[in-house]
Amino acid sequence: MNPIYMRWAERLVITRAHMAEHGRIHNFGAGPAVLPLEVVKDVASSLPNLSGSGFGLLEVSHRSTFFQEVIDSAMGRVRRILSVPDDYHILFLQGGASTQFYMTALNLLGDGDKADFLVTGGWSQKALKEANRIGDCVASWDDSDRGFKSVPMKGEFEVREDATYVHYTSNNTLFGTQYHETPDVGQGHLVVDASSDICGVPIDVSAHDVIYAGAQKNLGPSGVTLVILSPWAVSRIGEGLPTMLDYRTHISKGSMFNTPNTFGIFVLDRVLSWVEENGGLQGAIERNRAKSTLLYEELDRTPFWIPHADAESRSVMNVTWRMREEELESVFLEEANKAGLGGLKGHRSVGGIRASLYNGCPIESVEALVDFMRRFESIHG
Ligand SMILES: Cc1ncc(COP(=O)(O)O)c(C=O)c1O
Repeated sequence: MNPIYMRWAERLVITRAHMAEHGRIHNFGAGPAVLPLEVVKDVASSLPNLSGSGFGLLEVSHRSTFFQEVIDSAMGRVRRILSVPDDYHILFLQGGASTQFYMTALNLLGDGDKADFLVTGGWSQKALKEANRIGDCVASWDDSDRGFKSVPMKGEFEVREDATYVHYTSNNTLFGTQYHETPDVGQGHLVVDASSDICGVPIDVSAHDVIYAGAQKNLGPSGVTLVILSPWAVSRIGEGLPTMLDYRTHISKGSMFNTPNTFGIFVLDRVLSWVEENGGLQGAIERNRAKSTLLYEELDRTPFWIPHADAESRSVMNVTWRMREEELESVFLEEANKAGLGGLKGHRSVGGIRASLYNGCPIESVEALVDFMRRFESIHG
């Protein structure tokens, strides 16, 4: 086992035997994704009775003190783990990251305002399309003609001087590319869709004005969207927005203007507690690096595999590849499934194979995948 990971692995209860006990497969799905087994068990035990309150987890009012403690705890963990500045707001909303594509533009852009987008995949294309309903939004960088194999490096894109903000997607879940540095936009304001790498890679929150992320990859189950807002972002909001689409509605009510996803927020709190107990953000970063290094080493070992992303844009969260003989891909997926390795089918826009290595994916799963790949190559290569 990779020595970097060893330190944490000793503390993690997840072992092959542990997984087998529950009949769980090695789950490489892109989201909703595998969660740490301890968390799943903890959640299961809270279903009949939440923290000794006598109320079941799914049956407790969001107005109760029991739930208030849960949401306060979850917000505190987000602030600690990501070092969110004190004057930034943390929200748990519904509607997924897809609602944020529109909502960020609606809140930040006034009449005639502009925003620039770094288009690195299907999700940023969708974000641009929605923002264009509000303002004058254009792609300042678009890698679609190369099949979205990279993210822009410093100096490779120019944004309009009068753009109110620049939007980017930190990790491209479909194509397996990722920024390894915050895009340099000078004095400009940054909005990021961090759905598939939040809490799994370094992030300088203070360099951003809006961060949004669906929870269903690194943070918990689907149905909760984390939104982090700077004071500048809040100062941009104009009057007359629909109540539920105005960030101030949710800020003023602590994300409980209407009934929040109580279950999702509870699970998110448990996942973040697990992250804190296992080395915090730094622990997660090291584990994710170790897992992805193991897999990329195998992909680079032989031309039998063809990694999709350019080397400097490779994602540590979603690893995508094709096979030299494309007709073998369906055989690979079928045999992998039989061997207990699930969720590996690449997104239809890329094809091939994708392994998602989110925080909840243990290194044992990646070791099992690499073992399987070697065996597969020795038979079919
Ligand atoms: C980077 C990214 N953005 C946005 C979305 C859409 O998220 P949601 O389904 O929460 O709207 C996804 C979903 O996979 C994603 O990976």
